Amino acid sequence: MGSYKDIIFEKKPPIAWVTFNRPDKLNAISSTLIEELDDVLNTLWDDDEIRVLIITGTGDRAFCAGADITMFQGQKPDSMFHIIRKIVEVTQKMEKFPKPIVAAINGFALGGGCEIAISCDFRLASDKAAFGQPEIMLGLIPGAGGTQRLARLIGLGRAKELCMLGGRIPAAEAHRIGLANMVFPADKFKEEVQNFANRLAEGPPVALKMAKYACNFGTQVPLDVGLVLESGVFGILFGTEDMVEGTSAFLEKRKAKFTGK
Ligand code: COA
Repeated sequence: MGSYKDIIFEKKPPIAWVTFNRPDKLNAISSTLIEELDDVLNTLWDDDEIRVLIITGTGDRAFCAGADITMFQGQKPDSMFHIIRKIVEVTQKMEKFPKPIVAAINGFALGGGCEIAISCDFRLASDKAAFGQPEIMLGLIPGAGGTQRLARLIGLGRAKELCMLGGRIPAAEAHRIGLANMVFPADKFKEEVQNFANRLAEGPPVALKMAKYACNFGTQVPLDVGLVLESGVFGILFGTEDMVEGTSAFLEKRKAKFTGK
């Protein structure tokens, strides 16, 4: 679908797929790739046909090997500031996107690739995947949320190991420390990702959105405030048809059919 250059966009309701598609560069991030991802998020924002977005990489070598290092050469500090801000803005848009986003990490998730993955709601990894923030080896630091989101996700100590030593960790270790939610054998990976996304797509869309927001934003404020936010959202869900359907289905011992209303 669409006429994108650095990504492939496919709508297979209720699921949409974005595949980073720069195989010669291990799906490294270009400005075009980021603009195209941004465009897909805008396109799908209010699209009720789509309940889950999956982001993955072309081929079996890489999810995304980070920012395209060739674009670093000759950059002035101010222009790089604007380039990195655009990437950060897209990762923030992913956190606000009203549907679950699943990163299907089929290979290297390095640098900006790891940062995009940790901006998704779930990280499913192939057993051939590897994670890392190698920017330190370039005389840099992660610039699209690595030092911030990793520290919040896996703790300060482990985040510093990744950001300050620049090493790579395999999928099993990423799973052990909570960076990957699940790991699947490479030959069954796509099928397992699809199954996981189907499960999410059967869920109640408004409650899923509210759970995502409560987790993402309620944890950025003091606990007292986050708990009030959670109570408020819990109350709001009593105005949805899906809440009536979910509770009725439980009492009638049948599977709920959620419509998103
Ligand atoms: N930017 C630009 N090009 C990249 C790239 C990146 N981040 N990552 C990989 N590529 C390119 C390589 O230059 C190479 O291109 P070439 O065939 O024209 O020489 C091609 O992708 C394949 O990569 P290669 O390094 O040959 O594969 P490998 O299996 O030996 O190593 C990696 C794979 C991922 C370990 C290695 O490519 C790497 O370290 N990449 C950079 C990761 C990084 O530092 N990311 C953070 C950037 S801020």
